[in-house]
This record gives sequence, C-alpha cells and structure tokens, in this order.
Amino acid sequence: MDKKTVRDIDLKGKKVIERCDFNVPLLDDGTIRDNTRIVAALPTIKYLLEQNCSIILCSHLGRPKGQVVPELSMAPVAKELTRLLGQEVKLAKDVVGEDAMRLASELKPGEVMLLENVRFEPGEEKNDPELAEKFASMAEVFVNDAFGTAHRAHASTAGIADYLPAVAGFLIEKELKFLGDAINNPKRPFVAILGGKKVSDKIGVIDSLLEKVDTLMIGGAMAYTFFKSMGYSVGNSICEEDKLDLAQSLIEKAKNKGVKLMLPVDTRVGKEVSEDTESKVVSYKEIPDGWEGLDIGSETIKMYTDELRKAATVLWNGPVGIFEIEQFAVGTNEIAKTLSEIDAVTVIGGGDSAAAVKKAGLADKMTHISTGGGASLEFIEGKKLPGIECLMDK
Ligand code: 3PG
Repeated sequence: MDKKTVRDIDLKGKKVIERCDFNVPLLDDGTIRDNTRIVAALPTIKYLLEQNCSIILCSHLGRPKGQVVPELSMAPVAKELTRLLGQEVKLAKDVVGEDAMRLASELKPGEVMLLENVRFEPGEEKNDPELAEKFASMAEVFVNDAFGTAHRAHASTAGIADYLPAVAGFLIEKELKFLGDAINNPKRPFVAILGGKKVSDKIGVIDSLLEKVDTLMIGGAMAYTFFKSMGYSVGNSICEEDKLDLAQSLIEKAKNKGVKLMLPVDTRVGKEVSEDTESKVVSYKEIPDGWEGLDIGSETIKMYTDELRKAATVLWNGPVGIFEIEQFAVGTNEIAKTLSEIDAVTVIGGGDSAAAVKKAGLADKMTHISTGGGASLEFIEGKKLPGIECLMDK
C-alpha cells in the first residue's frame, strides 16, 4: 500500500483519534445483530494499546442526518467494545461537545473512549472544516480504519486529515490488499459473480470487471433485464425497461473483450416474494406471466458451480437470489458452498453477499470477506476513496 499505516509512524504514548466503521446492524431491542465490523477493528485498537496510546474512537451508526436520534446512540457499540477488549470503553454523551472534549482531555495512556454517533452532527456529512478541526483538536494523530466508510468524504473520514498526521489502520490495509490483489493481480482463471437487483447499480462494476476477469457470471434480479433485452418476456420479475440497450451493450462489450459472460439458463420463479409461495423452475426463455424470477435454477447452479471449480480467483458481489427466503436461497447457498470447497482465492465483496456467506455458516472458509458494502463496490469500480486518498503517502 502506498499510504502510511500505524506501523509507519511513532505512536508511543500519543493521543489518537481513530475513525472506525461501527455501522452495525441492530435488532429491534437495540442490541447488535452482527458484530463483525467491531471485531474487524480490534487488531488496530489492540496495536494502539500496545503503543500505550490514549484512544478516542468514533463512528457513525445508521443515517440520523445531523439530528440526535437516541435509537442510533453508540451505546451498544461501547458495551460490545468493552466486552471484546476486556476493559472499559467510556461513551461520551456528545460528539464534539463539552462531555466529549472533557473525556478526551482527561483520557490517559492505555484508556479507550468512544464519541457519540458522528452523524448526530450536521457538519459530518457536509465535511464541515470546523467540525473536522474540532475532531482533530482532541488528538495528535488521526488513524482511519473505517474501510466501510472510506467512500464518504465526511468530516471524520477525510476532512480531519487536513489538521492531523493521518495514517491507515490494519483493516484498511488488509481490505486494500485482498480486494486490490483480486482485482489487479489475480491468479487466473479469474471469475466474478455479480448479483443484485439492478443493472444500473452495477454498471460501473460490470464495466470495470469486463476489463479484468476471464468469466463474469450474472445472477440476481438484474439477470431479467438481460433476458428482456434478448427479447424474452420476464413475467413479474424486476426489470429495468430503460436499461435494455445497456444490457445489450454489456453483452457486446464482453464479446469484444473475450470475456465469457454467463447468464442463467433457468430460473426459480414464484408467485410472490414469500416463504410459502408456490414456486417452480423454468427456462429463462419461458417465464410465465404472473410469475417472478427469484433465484437461479438448478441447471444454472450446476453450470455456475462447474465453472467456479476451475477458477483460481473468485470475486463475489451480490446474492443470486432472495437468500433471506429459504426456497429462493438455494442458488446463493450452493455458490457459497462451492466457494468454501475450492482451492482458490475467494473474495466476498461485502454487503448482502457477506451476509449470505455468514448465514450459510461458511465465513471462515473464504479468503477474505470485505467489511465494506458501497466502499468495496467503489473500490472494484476503480474509484478513488476519499478516506484513503486523504492519508499520508509512504
Ligand atoms: C455502510 O454500511 O456501507 C457504511 O457504513 C456506509 O454507510 P452509509 O451508506 O450510510 O454512508
């Protein structure tokens, strides 16, 4: 990595403000449903503790849009950090107010505190320099380890780096290594699987991948836009009528680049999106009226998993069906299972595909599961991430 990390500067005894991505899913009772992002932040926090730093952690949680929303308090995160670190992590009552400033100034080496949700401050998402300067005033060094938020140019992710020496933590370093190697230096054959609802959400990603992969497999609802563009009827399936030309041009581009573009040959259709709806597998050319495509079919599963068994690198972004509903999770689960069995570098591009792999209990069988959703997509697209660009060069 060409950016400095915590290893590249002297941090001994320093006061550090560290941005993490603790934007974790919560249950209705306010407890944390999945602590992966908190666990992923621990190596850097522990390293800073070894360096005898005083550590001020901060993150956003949800989208409170500049308002104090009590349900989006960082309290559950402070509790979980306290449990995982085995030492008290004090939660400030505010972000850059009196309480945060006092706690930060009293913080001693070896102690850890957490600011309230940075998005309670209206200046955060506007990347307000005044707010960035307030964050910076609490510490001597800025560490960014929030890979999942690195695509946002906000006061606590980017602006703050104008006022302090800024370095990356181990999570950002690891994410860039695994995603970067997969994209830019893959062992071949390099296969990418792309799922998700809309072609329009993934145009940049498809475009970028067509420059790099040997095979691109399409799944999820976006497949139906491709079928429609080929002249087939798609029943009630999700379809972007205004993106048919785009789908055709992507097929054309794959042909010109010599990339094997694989589309489903059959699909599991249901009457509606529900657990107990009637469902059946049909050819992609014969989706009946009144039915909606909700998963890849059994022939496609065989075709895709056979191809995956030949791969040396696999990048997966987006489930290939409605994996939250058991009868439409078969394609996604079979792909996850195959990836867990093959001798290849397997990189899961975060978001829903990461959730699907975890749900299938196969997370520890993958080479790398990104903690970034939007951030990993923008990285794959080749976009510059402001939370990384702002860090000091090596
Ligand atoms: C994420 O969950 O993808 C990140 O935490 C970024 O959140 P945001 O999309 O609300 O900026």
